[in-house]
Amino acid sequence: MTQRPFIIDCDTGTDDAIALMAAFGCPEINVRAITSVNGNVPEEYTSANNLNLTEYLGIDVEVARGATLPFYPRGDYYGPTHGKTGLGDVIIPDACRTSFSKDMAPEVIRRIAEEEKGELELLVIGPMTNIAIAISLYPQLKKQIKHIWFMGGAAKGGNVSATAEFNIWVDPIAAKLVMSAGIPMTMVGLDVTEKAVLGREEEKELREYGSKASVLTADILEYMFKRCKGGGEDALMHDALALAAAVIPECLECRETSLDVEFRGEYTAGHTVTGVCNRRVHQEANASVALELHLDVFKKWLLECVKRCGEA
Ligand code: BDR
Ligand code: CA
Repeated sequence: MTQRPFIIDCDTGTDDAIALMAAFGCPEINVRAITSVNGNVPEEYTSANNLNLTEYLGIDVEVARGATLPFYPRGDYYGPTHGKTGLGDVIIPDACRTSFSKDMAPEVIRRIAEEEKGELELLVIGPMTNIAIAISLYPQLKKQIKHIWFMGGAAKGGNVSATAEFNIWVDPIAAKLVMSAGIPMTMVGLDVTEKAVLGREEEKELREYGSKASVLTADILEYMFKRCKGGGEDALMHDALALAAAVIPECLECRETSLDVEFRGEYTAGHTVTGVCNRRVHQEANASVALELHLDVFKKWLLECVKRCGEA
């Protein structure tokens, strides 16, 4: 099977870590690099998590550091959801055999896009800062990137404010730059990812399976269950659902529509404006937006991918 080349740009992050493990167990794709960005926790931690995770699982992949700040930093956005380090109370040993790429995220994206000659796809599961910088530095990327699959925004609602989802809210200016670049894209927003919840049954199945990746995923789920009991977010697989959109599109109902982002509003910055809920928005369709999820299809696929992760 010809594998589709991907770069995963992430702010790892509990659910980002699970999405990465799923990606490594996904036969359809070849993860060419992981690029790290500030978001759930500072970039120093998201980068360390990416390197530690890949070394721990024995996955040979380029891991690059990336943006430490959004374009317009405003306020303190490191919440309690992912704990201090990004992985809750889960500890992965520090990497000692591997090191970061000599190149920063935008350069890695430029190089691999050139090598892949129009075939490179991006899975973006954190704020879009690295991607915006890359496009700004290397505008040829607008033609070279085949598709961007991203978790962020929402056709309706938000989790940071009534109208904004975290990834887009952290860096709405970056999102604006990326969304206006003319690159084909699919938005998997919060109003759909909030339905992508795992429970005890999945945790048990993964723990019993006994591989490094499946047990680590079970440990992260355990942390998420505790978090939920304490009034926090449930075991939501936001980021893995954006990967699923790319490889098992049948798990989602999507619609081609217009997509833009409000980046100036005092109360509404980070709100993704789509034609789905705004009948008076008449721009041309520039994105596919997820609207509904077939949860059983998604859960089955996710467990299979995590179980395959790290298998030779
Ligand atoms: C998004 O923000 C982060 O907390 C998750 O990793 C996900 O990418 C959900 O709003
Ligand atoms: Ca994320």
